[in-house]
Amino acid sequence: HKITWTLEMAEKSGFPHFMLKEIHEQPSAVRDAIHGNREMVRSVAEEIAKYEKVIFVAMGTSYHAALVGKYLFQRLAKKVPLVEEASEFRYEFEDLVDENTLVIAITQSGETADTLAAMKLAKRKGARVLAIVNVVGSMATRIADLTLYTHAGPEIGVAATKTYTTQLTVLTMLAIETARALGSADEEYLRSLEKQLDSIPVLIEKALSHGEALKELAESLRDRRDFFYVGRGISFPTALEGALKLKEISYIHAEGLSAGELKHGPLALLEKGVPVVAIAPSGKTFDKMMGNIEEARARGAMIIALSDREEVGRISDVWIEMPELDELLTPIVYVVPLQLMAYHLAVLRGNDPDKPRNLAKSVTVE
Ligand code: G6P
Repeated sequence: HKITWTLEMAEKSGFPHFMLKEIHEQPSAVRDAIHGNREMVRSVAEEIAKYEKVIFVAMGTSYHAALVGKYLFQRLAKKVPLVEEASEFRYEFEDLVDENTLVIAITQSGETADTLAAMKLAKRKGARVLAIVNVVGSMATRIADLTLYTHAGPEIGVAATKTYTTQLTVLTMLAIETARALGSADEEYLRSLEKQLDSIPVLIEKALSHGEALKELAESLRDRRDFFYVGRGISFPTALEGALKLKEISYIHAEGLSAGELKHGPLALLEKGVPVVAIAPSGKTFDKMMGNIEEARARGAMIIALSDREEVGRISDVWIEMPELDELLTPIVYVVPLQLMAYHLAVLRGNDPDKPRNLAKSVTVE
């Protein structure tokens, strides 16, 4: 598949900021990620299936994609990959990688210094290296043995949006195909996941239609000083990513937590009116999440819930209704309102979301 980037793609086309434009490009970006990888994904998955030891390395938003990847591989391929921040991996894993290891590096730019160093270390130790990259011809693609592209097109805003949802798309396809190669999941179930994946661009479109409501919500939240994002299982990385988006561009303190950790400390910080963003799709841990929401509510927290279930709406101050979807696919859609909320908060607070202070699009120094 040829990837061409035109000048027009790098313009704002009527949007006030690149970030908003890129958030809105997600339906087509995800579609392109699916089409662009259909042929390649099988042979790569067959390769992954051969390895006992699989380690994801990445930084920032790409690290959150890796965490989602871990849940996908656990649930579908019954494989337990490790996920390491590249900056940690490169110093801690020297003696722990060998020719029986597959390292999967996830990087939008393909130029993040720590991720490249982790890849080089892996190669030096004889490991096989797969890269999931957005920027064509970047350094990561030259180091890797195998590369899959996310096909998101150029991303100008510093905060990653469409490159994240396309990373998740590629990882979902890979986990499905690896499960198929290993015979670790029911074929009918895998087909239904593929079908639902194809419908995701339309579901993102719907999530984008909450834009105005999210702007109003942001107006009511603009002076809050702390936010908590909570989720369980495959929604835990969504909580981390939602909090990261808020920190990066609105400069509001935010924490992402697995909801089970609430009781072990963070609950002490909850007082009246503190926003708690609960990622609560139907699935394995739905009932547990309901309990966590109640816990936070009992401390007077303001609950902003993302869920397909009305009973969540009933116990929340704000319910962002999400489509019904297999839990494993929810990260791709649920992050969209969180991106929009962070965007609007940034703009309302007078920040330029495209160029957050102190941050760079790619961190090429150590
Ligand atoms: C920087 C960017 C983030 C990005 C991270 C990793 O911190 O601001 O948006 O997630 O680098 O970048 P990569 O290009 O490796 O995905």
